[in-house]
Amino acid sequence: MDGNGRWAKAQGKSRQYGHTIGSSKVYDVFKLCIDLGCKSATFFAMSSENMQRDEKETDFISVLLKSSIEKHFSDLLSNKIKFKIIGDITKLPDDIKEVIKEAEHATKNFTELSMHIAYNYGGQWDILNAVKSLVSSNYPITSKNLNRYLSTNDNFPELIVRTGGYKRLSNFMLWQSGYSELEFLDILWPDISEHHIKLIFEKYNKTRRNFGRVKQ
Ligand code: FPP
Repeated sequence: MDGNGRWAKAQGKSRQYGHTIGSSKVYDVFKLCIDLGCKSATFFAMSSENMQRDEKETDFISVLLKSSIEKHFSDLLSNKIKFKIIGDITKLPDDIKEVIKEAEHATKNFTELSMHIAYNYGGQWDILNAVKSLVSSNYPITSKNLNRYLSTNDNFPELIVRTGGYKRLSNFMLWQSGYSELEFLDILWPDISEHHIKLIFEKYNKTRRNFGRVKQ
């Protein structure tokens, strides 16, 4: 979800305003993806590196995270959507951790649909954690066993979409993205619309994924 800052600047508004409008799009985009047949989506809200920004900005986004969960909590329940934060949330204030814990706990038994928010997430952090856990588990060191300890388990993204014009993953799901389709959009996140999402799905659905094998 890149581009909130530039979008706000272009409107002569604060970065905070950009994040507020950006965060208001997240749930609608998720619901649209579900309507188009997607079962699970992760939204990259904050990378480990983004956390080094001005404290006022990171605090503001953490409060947005809390209010977004509170706003959509009943909808998560009624639509049986499993909610999970991936990333290191240990340093978040207790009231925010409490809201996260409550939403994760209340939705943990749903199996059909899932929504993840990556917050203070880094692909390198994820891999290191998984390696440490695998080594101390005494299971053989194999890819399959490593997957069990990733924040995503073995739910890997089929498609990764980045807004904001940059063509890089910026430490997002480095292990899990091995065979993901990648889509880079020049639009800024707050400008994302139903039209863009439908185009992405149409293109993706036409792509034959063969994981390096010869097409049959
Ligand atoms: C990158 O764009 C975006 C972020 C670092 C924050 C994204 C946060 C949200 C969309 C709000 C959080 C939503 C939830 C549900 C927690 P940027 O601000 O770096 O944009 P720029 O590249 O134009 O400066």
